Amino acid sequence: MSTTAIRPGSNALALDELVQQDRVHRRVYTDPDIFALEMDRVFAANWVYLLHLSEIPGIDDFKQVWIGTRNFVVSRKGDNKVTVFANRCSHRAATVCREPGGTASTFTCPYHGWKYDSRGQLFGVPGKTAYGNTFKARDMHLARPAQVAIYKGLVFATLNDKAPGLEEHLGHAKRFIDDWLNHQGGHENLCVAGAQRFKLKCNWKVVYDNAGDGYHVPFSHQSLLKMTNDRYGGGDMSYFADADRSNMKLYDLGNGHTLIDQRPDMHNDSAWNQQRPQPGREAFEAHVRNTNKPEMVSAVLDSAVGAGMNLNIFPNLLFIGNQIQVLQPVSANDVLVHWYATQRADADDDMQSMRMRTQEDFPIMGEMDDASNFEECQRGMETSPDDEWIDISRHFETGKDEEEAPGLIANPVTSELHMRAYFNKWRALMSVQPILNVEKTKL
Ligand code: FES
Ligand SMILES: [Fe+2]
Repeated sequence: MSTTAIRPGSNALALDELVQQDRVHRRVYTDPDIFALEMDRVFAANWVYLLHLSEIPGIDDFKQVWIGTRNFVVSRKGDNKVTVFANRCSHRAATVCREPGGTASTFTCPYHGWKYDSRGQLFGVPGKTAYGNTFKARDMHLARPAQVAIYKGLVFATLNDKAPGLEEHLGHAKRFIDDWLNHQGGHENLCVAGAQRFKLKCNWKVVYDNAGDGYHVPFSHQSLLKMTNDRYGGGDMSYFADADRSNMKLYDLGNGHTLIDQRPDMHNDSAWNQQRPQPGREAFEAHVRNTNKPEMVSAVLDSAVGAGMNLNIFPNLLFIGNQIQVLQPVSANDVLVHWYATQRADADDDMQSMRMRTQEDFPIMGEMDDASNFEECQRGMETSPDDEWIDISRHFETGKDEEEAPGLIANPVTSELHMRAYFNKWRALMSVQPILNVEKTKL
């Protein structure tokens, strides 16, 4: 294969050269100018996940969220009703809200004391008589994104008023989101709980790359799989050992969204039986057997373990097992990763505990393997600038693409179709100079 030379330090944004069908240039992961452009074109101009309504259950509950590097607050107003406003004072841009979340009917900027209500509307300016008519005619409320939409409790926003509707954006991913929510007892029973948070020294896309990577499991997580096999003779994720011959598939769902569907191997018989041992497992199983009809026991036990899906909603929302992972890019080589545990409103304490033990199994037992590799990938791309490319060609030329429905492509589970698919969307978004809008008028 010939090599296309991209001049080191070149500012030219030759997208077709940087992102090819089967390889990607290192600059896409290391260049601060490209990162800055991504924050506008891939994040602000695209639908980005903010939070789940269960995180702000009461009136005036709020939480800080991020659209790329832009900081916003989501405040609850009622059933299925939220207001999203910028966490940036209309006076001289100070951060208004310094708490990650809580309940507040007003927000006072700590710098000069401007007061906003819980919809981000300015209602108090100390020493107001010092301002004249020009000021009074200005809209000085906190800036709201152009569009906010909710799909089954999942709140998204974009600064692009020309972005297609959220459901169109989700496309094929919708029915898999529904499947995932059904595993949580339906969307009205999902409770997003606390998060494990960590900061990694890598580009946000290195994490997204791994979200649809069915290739790395027996290598990156070798110690976990070996321990499970040695002690218990197989178990969860052992079916990745010969993954392309398994029943699992990788799906390109369109718009950068993808899925590793583990369910054909994990949930075909008994997902519960494949789960690694956990504290309290035997007592929980006895409790389920004593309190359910025999024909229901297997389904109840399976509902305590993960959903068997790695469902990735580009660019920042990942459903993994029973958890929700949110990516928050910080700079070209820094990303914050938020792993949210989930609970079910319809589950008893025993079920909640067992679900929590499952969620402790992963990420705690496995994510550090991945995190280490993420940082080493970034290091390689930054410290070997003359070796310019990363390869994403696995199953590119094997003719294994299967179109199961228009725009829904299945591949063997170790394929790098996940990366090829999302980079197609990335390139399309990065090719357009978007018009970004925030609204500061009175509600
Ligand atoms: S910057 Fe907020 S009141 Fe001055
Ligand atoms: Fe992994």
